Amino acid sequence: MTDKFKNIKKDFPIFARYPKLVYLDTTATAQKPKCVIDALDEFYTTCNANVHRGIYKLSEIATEAYEKSRKVVAGFIGAKSKKEIIFTRNTTESINIVARSFLPKIIRSNQGTVLISSMEHHSNIIPWQIMKKQLNFNLQVIKLTPEYELDMDDLEAKLKKYNVKLIAITHISNVLGTINPVEKIASLAKKHNCYVLVDGAQAVGHIKIDVSKLGVDFYTFSGHKMMGPLGIGVLWAKEKLLEKMDPFLGGGEMINTVSWQSFTPADIPYKFEAGTPNAAGAYALGKACQYLEKILPYIKEHEENIMKYFIENIFKIKDLTVYGPPLNKKIGIFSFSIDNLHAHDISYILDEQNIAVRAGHHCAMPLHKKIIKKPSTVRASFYIYNTLEDIDKLIKGLQKAVKILK
Ligand code: ALA
Repeated sequence: MTDKFKNIKKDFPIFARYPKLVYLDTTATAQKPKCVIDALDEFYTTCNANVHRGIYKLSEIATEAYEKSRKVVAGFIGAKSKKEIIFTRNTTESINIVARSFLPKIIRSNQGTVLISSMEHHSNIIPWQIMKKQLNFNLQVIKLTPEYELDMDDLEAKLKKYNVKLIAITHISNVLGTINPVEKIASLAKKHNCYVLVDGAQAVGHIKIDVSKLGVDFYTFSGHKMMGPLGIGVLWAKEKLLEKMDPFLGGGEMINTVSWQSFTPADIPYKFEAGTPNAAGAYALGKACQYLEKILPYIKEHEENIMKYFIENIFKIKDLTVYGPPLNKKIGIFSFSIDNLHAHDISYILDEQNIAVRAGHHCAMPLHKKIIKKPSTVRASFYIYNTLEDIDKLIKGLQKAVKILK
């Protein structure tokens, strides 16, 4: 176990409030370090005013804090300019913006295909289904291998067979933990002249993301899964694509001029930020990036140690099946089932022992139905504040659940 993180729990006030808490649900939302919580407080105490709207000092301070954060976020993911960073509510909103504002630019009715994969979260399925009703395109799903990895042969075959306009794919599965080879996908996409959108919700904050190297066109993520606050997310896209897209929402601050009959949109990124934004959230997200910047190089090793320990010990539980690829192809997200036990019952008994896991379909119903072939699984997910002791407690907790339920 990396010594570096021995005392890291102290950075997260939730563990002082609940000393017995074994938090294994980072995939749903990460716990927040004190610097992020303090940043929210600091924003509201020292610079609360509406951004980009006031010609007075306080509003200028707020605007500066908001815009500085945009720059920090841009630097954190390797964006060329802060203009490429759109602040949204979350990954879901970011994907919906692309579906609504970009897709109609590249797909005409009855023409073209959008490719998604079998391991997508509903956030990267439904926006395309909604648009399919309007644009009537072909929606195809890339298969998985029996090891729960993306079937690259199927991807290539589909790229050859269909007139693919966009591949919308998760970077890391929120159920299986599988890391998809996004760079490879992007280079294949280029050969076939199609665009690539990545759902990075489970990747940012776990692995280093450099959008300038990935070769993709859109990268989306949520602040709250990377230790930032709830309600702030990011859409990154290349400048020239953002310029081409129409606004997603109409309202305050996304315009240059307005008359009764029409408007002209503001420049990017503001064209996509209608209404008063979550400036405090954006400010605190910048702080999360700065916190993560320092520890990101060590997270992988830490998660790998925990994953190894988990796998070595989890099979002490009889009749347990883990769904996911080999450890070198994934991060610390493990969904599993125990024969004849309901995931919700297991989760309930774990909770009685202060162990927080998620149970259900994890917003990936088609994956559960078609591939895992169970309506629900239990999911334990790990982050830097988890320890080997947490795994010991999980194993004990599961043993107790089996004893009670079987
Ligand atoms: N996307 C989140 C999860 O997988 C909510 O739990």
